[in-house]
Amino acid sequence: MKGIIYYYSSTGNTKLAVNYLKNHIHNAEIVLCDIANDNIIECDSYDFVGFASFAEYLGPPTLMKRFIETLSLQNGKPAFVLNTYGRFTGPTQIEFAKQVDARGFKVVAGHSLIMPMNYPPMKRKGKHSTSEPSPKEMSNYDRFIAQIERSITQIEEGEDLKPLLRTFSLKKLVPSMARDKVKKDFGIQQIDQEKCVNCGNCARVCGYNAIEMNPNPVVNHQKCNGCWACYNTCPKKAINAKSFKGEYQYKGPSKELVDRMSK
Ligand SMILES: Cc1cc2nc3c(=O)[nH]c(=O)nc-3n(C[C@H](O)[C@H](O)[C@H](O)COP(=O)(O)O)c2cc1C
Ligand code: SF4
Ligand code: SF4
Repeated sequence: MKGIIYYYSSTGNTKLAVNYLKNHIHNAEIVLCDIANDNIIECDSYDFVGFASFAEYLGPPTLMKRFIETLSLQNGKPAFVLNTYGRFTGPTQIEFAKQVDARGFKVVAGHSLIMPMNYPPMKRKGKHSTSEPSPKEMSNYDRFIAQIERSITQIEEGEDLKPLLRTFSLKKLVPSMARDKVKKDFGIQQIDQEKCVNCGNCARVCGYNAIEMNPNPVVNHQKCNGCWACYNTCPKKAINAKSFKGEYQYKGPSKELVDRMSK
């Protein structure tokens, strides 16, 4: 059995989570495809497909949504969705499942995994835990992985899998934030040319190709989605957002977390 997981991770949490998942699935060969950085591999020759990303204002990120819309229409190929989040995942998982379902996949499993918060405005408020995922969250994640392994066995045996969407309670959902509001905390970023060393990191991490090095970073504000990846990872704290001047950056999972999730 062969599966492919398409993922988008702005600061590394989701990447760590999908690598953990890949290493813990023993009954299939899994290929990972980073939709922001790798050449896109078609999913036609794979038996199942995973989609993984993070909660961005209570929904899957714009980049993942756009990517899903580019995929050819499927005829019930089994799929699962995974989203990481920092504090409140809300309707992210169901929105994600609906987007994947709309391309003709049959979504059979979904999970939301809490990870460290990478959204500077929430970090400033301090209303998040810095030690996530807890052992309890990790055992829930392990249960999800075991469920995927069971689904793989069922696919192999030609069994019909139950779709996940019917099991969601639509009444419990809160509406996700309108996509045009996503930049409200970020505003129009400015690059502090005094601090900038033209290292090009911001252009590399921007999944929306909104930054070009010329030779200084030049931002195309029309393309910018306010994802904070450039802000979070600028080594010189040279990127200023609406009311932030380099504070509360999230540079990626700590060594402790990477070690913990590499086992
Ligand atoms: C622009 C933006 C919006 C976010 N919105 C949410 C949210 O609505 N709920 C939440 O719990 N976390 C939210 N987060 C936090 C991330 O979902 C979380 O830290 C995630 O693990 C980051 O994954 P990554 O490192 O793979 O990008 C947001 C982060 C960013 C940058
Ligand atoms: S990451 Fe920061 S220092 Fe590097 S080019 Fe971008 S703004 Fe300048
Ligand atoms: S320029 Fe905009 S879209 Fe690109 S990394 Fe920065 S905040 Fe994200």
